[in-house]
Amino acid sequence: MTDNFRFHLIPASPTDLAAEALAGLRARPKRLPCKLFYDEAGLALFEAICATPEYDLCRNETALLRTQAASIADAVGRGACLVEPGAGGCEKVGLLLDALAPAAYAPLDIAGESLERAAQALAARRPGLRVTACAMDFLADLERIAPLLPDGRRVFFYPGSSIGNFTPEEAIALLARFRRLAGTDGGLLIGFDCKKHPGRISRAYNDEQGLTARFNLNLLGHANRLLDGNFDPGGFAHHAFYEPVEGRIEMHLVSLRDQTVRIAGDEISFPRGETLHTENSYKYLPGEFAALAGAAGWAPAGEWLAEEAAFAVQHFRAA
Ligand code: AVI
Repeated sequence: MTDNFRFHLIPASPTDLAAEALAGLRARPKRLPCKLFYDEAGLALFEAICATPEYDLCRNETALLRTQAASIADAVGRGACLVEPGAGGCEKVGLLLDALAPAAYAPLDIAGESLERAAQALAARRPGLRVTACAMDFLADLERIAPLLPDGRRVFFYPGSSIGNFTPEEAIALLARFRRLAGTDGGLLIGFDCKKHPGRISRAYNDEQGLTARFNLNLLGHANRLLDGNFDPGGFAHHAFYEPVEGRIEMHLVSLRDQTVRIAGDEISFPRGETLHTENSYKYLPGEFAALAGAAGWAPAGEWLAEEAAFAVQHFRAA
């Protein structure tokens, strides 16, 4: 192990997935948490979605980070401790490291094995960077990283429009937690998908290859395995649409027949045509997002827009 690498396993606080799933399945409209997308197959499908012509979020963000790295570094400041919740394979940060030259990098992810591998390889390639990787459910346990973080000004890096998968109220609460942990001299660098022509947004979640449909249906198999269920994915159809009043894509699974599903020790009936809501993906105008971050204690300090303002990266300082 290299000197500049630390790995911490933060055991998950007990959360009751079965109770959460059953509460959602008993609600109207029925829902299941979108974290159920991400088993191994779901992660691979998401990667494939990012390469489809219709889903341009990842490409837009990557192009921005690549072409604007120097300007982003001027705004964010060099030598910080960069904290990345949900860092996955630590790929995106690689686009910024040369320009941003952080003193330390703390990637957090629930998938501990792949995080350890990726973060350790990064530390080996960059001996001058202190890498402190934490395998954890950051949504449940974010505050537990405080004593583990290396010294230095803390800048949260939250790319990928992941913030769009929370309702605005949940997003404000999460950004406020980042703000508290970042402290009074802290920063936030965040990427989000923007409002644009509804047809273009809708196509991104209805790709011609049907990968988003498979991604959506894959959630049922994952739920079956984790919660001892018997969902038949063949009995449901992918349905995704842009809802302009809320400014969000809604993904649903529509029941194709009357059916009863056994899951987590209960039986749930789905009349033909009933939907199961699996994900929201909110889209923001740059000004709308700045106001939302403002409500969480962040003051705007920089903005970079992709072509046609399709995607934005914004920088904030503690207000
Ligand atoms: C991970 N997240 C930002 C993606 C999104 O666009 O909301 C997940 C996704 N759902 C369907 N396609 C991609």
